[in-house]
Formats: sequence, C-alpha cells, structure tokens
Amino acid sequence: MALDYSKKVMDHFMNPRNVGELDNPDGVGEAGNPKCGDIMKIYLKVNDDTKIIEDVKFKTFGCASAIASSSMATELIKGKSIDQAWDLTNNAVAEALDGLPPIKMHCSVLAEEAIHTAINDYREKHGLEKIPMEIHEE
Ligand code: FES
Repeated sequence: MALDYSKKVMDHFMNPRNVGELDNPDGVGEAGNPKCGDIMKIYLKVNDDTKIIEDVKFKTFGCASAIASSSMATELIKGKSIDQAWDLTNNAVAEALDGLPPIKMHCSVLAEEAIHTAINDYREKHGLEKIPMEIHEE
C-alpha cells in the first residue's frame, strides 16, 4: 500500500534543496540506519567568528522520507549558529514537512544525527568539546 506523504515531503523529495558536497567543509557528519541501510552525509561551512552555518549540503542514499528530511533539515539550519542547529530535533524536521508517516519517523532521525555528527566534527577540529549525542530508541 502506498504511504500517504504530505505535499511538502513530495516537494522536498522531488526537488531536494542543498544536494551535493562542499569543497573543504568545516564539519562533516554521517548517520546511518542499520535496519534499512540508508545513509545520510552532511557537509557544513561555518564562520569561525560568528559560528554561523553559512552553507550546508547533503548526500543521502535512502528513501523518499530520508531525502525530504535531509533537504528540509539543511534549509532549517542554514544561517543558524551551530548551537541553534544542534537544537533542531527530528520531530521539528518532521513537523516542518507537515508530518511523516509513523513508520517513517526514523528517517528524520538520520537528519538530526547527521547534523549532530557534523557539528561535533567541527567542534573537535576547532578545539571545542564534543557534545554527547542523544540515543534515539526505535
Ligand atoms: Fe530508512 Fe527511510 S527507510 S531512512
């Protein structure tokens, strides 16, 4: 049976924003889900003085919800500080997409985790302490 996706999910799946890689990224993060095998990679360009995310790109090998979640999540963190971006939850990503089917919520978790991993990569490279990552139960 086909899943009922919102128009926003379909839009971000069909026309994903911020697809690709960045040359010399300041932070790179990857997250994967061992159950479905999907993988998401996030690249950040961060202004060292302001800690603002000036650019962000993603590459996702995954389902429609994972691609839509990556696209929306990158839109939501662009122009934000790394601290504001850290606070972006998977639920906020799903809400911004006008919801995901319950069995697809884990796809939005990939976006949160990939962003967290990328921010911690940036922090580690810039002498900042890494922030403990929250474990999501499925
Ligand atoms: Fe695995 Fe969507 S089914 S991320």
